[in-house]
Formats: sequence, structure tokens, C-alpha cells
Amino acid sequence: MAARIVVTRRIPDPAIGLLEGAGDVWVSPHDRPLSADELHSAVAGADAAVTLLHDRVDGAFLDAAGPALRIVANVAVGYDNVDVEACARRGVVVSNTPGVLTEATADIAFALILMSTRRLGEGERLIRARTPWSWSMFFMLGTGLQGKTLGIVGLGKIGQATARRARAFGMEIAYAGRRRAAEDVEAELSARFLPLDELLTTADVVTLHCPLSADTRHLIDAAALARMQPSSHLVNTTRGPVVDEAALAEALRAGAIAGAGLDVFEREPEVHPDLLELENVVLIPHLGSATIETRTAMGVLAAENVVAVLGGSAPVTPVR
Ligand code: GLV
Repeated sequence: MAARIVVTRRIPDPAIGLLEGAGDVWVSPHDRPLSADELHSAVAGADAAVTLLHDRVDGAFLDAAGPALRIVANVAVGYDNVDVEACARRGVVVSNTPGVLTEATADIAFALILMSTRRLGEGERLIRARTPWSWSMFFMLGTGLQGKTLGIVGLGKIGQATARRARAFGMEIAYAGRRRAAEDVEAELSARFLPLDELLTTADVVTLHCPLSADTRHLIDAAALARMQPSSHLVNTTRGPVVDEAALAEALRAGAIAGAGLDVFEREPEVHPDLLELENVVLIPHLGSATIETRTAMGVLAAENVVAVLGGSAPVTPVR
């Protein structure tokens, strides 16, 4: 009998083409996240599920899927939406899509660094509001990046790619994380390893690249923000809950830090209402991997994982 492959939201055609070679494919007809009930009825009896970062893959999902399920292929590098332990207990393999979105996400992190430090969102809003303005020596001054320190929390693939961009802009690199990077990575980036507290105190721009986990939820809270300098900027392109959004809004309002750039939000797609009122924060709608090339590569990699597992092989990119 052909394998039943469930895709919880439309993914690029080349990926669907690959999946069709491995079984009967059902793709959600809705261009929105499925509700928990819809998700659970969709996966009933599935051999493979291709999930998106907004789908909660937990015990209830696995119960609904039933014993045939062999793989959950998450189309994202982050997999905080998947209960990996629960999957392992039932022998369900979990895969993600690392590597293929590294450069696109680092581009967005650096775009937010430039937007925040050079006040680009504010400038754009000013023009669109038809506010009168004229060039002056003191009009909308931002802060330069050359010679400044970029503090990277989590020097994995995306952190390193962001560091490379920062080096090209003349920045110094410091990083914090669970463990030290390899010597050749530190040498290439001239990167200094610092405890998080020290990184927050010394960096001119802090950019977050650690995965969301129980350890990193609200890693950047009011106390962490209080360590940063009033001239510093914070950029988040990982997962919203790494930052306490209410504390961030207060720090930005009070001038405890100068600015922030956010691609991800604590209760996505909701944005904390206080942030919406502030000029010194750039808000973009989770666009880190949003290029045609990257999304196609992510879909294809997820499909390759499904094809491998249904064919009896190991996935190409298991989560661990
Ligand atoms: C996107 O946010 C991802 O984790 O791939």
C-alpha cells in the first residue's frame, strides 16, 4: 500500500514532486496554519508528516497520527515546535532543514542591524507620513558600525554567517554560548568568547542566534536588558520567546537600550502592542528564510528526509 504523506501547508512544487514519488500526498488546502483539531484529523493514519514551524507536534499530535507515523519532517531549522522526546519514545524520526537557510537568515539579521543602527524604518515611516524634512547635519543621526563590537549569542552556522558580514563592515566579534566554537572558527572571525553577562555589557549590537529551548526562553529579560548600554541595539532572528517582549518594550521606551530589530515575536503573529507604539524598533514579519531559493531548498530537503525514511534509510538531516 502506498505511504500516506501529509503536508500541513503548501510547500514549493519541487518538494511536492519528490514526495509524490514516495507515496500518496495530501497537502492542506488552506493558506494558514491548521487548528489543532484540523492538524490532528489531517495526520490520522499518516506514514510521514511534513510540518511547518507553527504546527505543534506533541503527544496529542502523535496519538492522532497513530502507529504508522515514521517521520516528522519539519520545514525549518528550528524545531522547538516538536516534542523530540515524545517522537523518540514512539520511534518517530524528526528532521529539520539546517544549512540551506543560513545565508538568507544572516542577510536578514544584518539588514536588521543596519535598519536599527541607521534608523531606516523610522526614516521610511517619516517620509510615508509626508512629514516635512530637510537634510541637516543633525537630522536622524544613527550610529556607525565600523570598529564597534557585535555580540553574537550562539555562534552556530547562522551566527557565523552573520559574523562574516559584520567583519566585512569592520566590526569586532564577541560571542557567548553553551560551548566554545572550534579554534579555526574563532580564528577566522577573530571572535572572543565571553560569558553572556559580559557580552551584554560590552557589545554595541547584540544579535541572537541560539535555538529556543527551556534554557533560552526569556534569556533576554529585564535583567539582561539592564546590562546593555543605552547606546546598544538588540536584534532577534531566532525565535520570539528568547526575548521577554514586555521587558524589551519597556527598555526601548525608557532608553535603556537605543534600538532593536525583530523578525520573530513571542506570540507570533501577534506583536506586543507597546512595541507597535515605539519608533526605535524595527518590526518585520518572520522573513529570515523568505527567499524563493531558500524556501525551495528547505522544502526539497524536508522531502528528501521523508523519501529517505520511507525508503528505509536514515534521514539526511535528523535533528540529533
Ligand atoms: C525559521 O525560522 C526556521 O527555523 O527555519
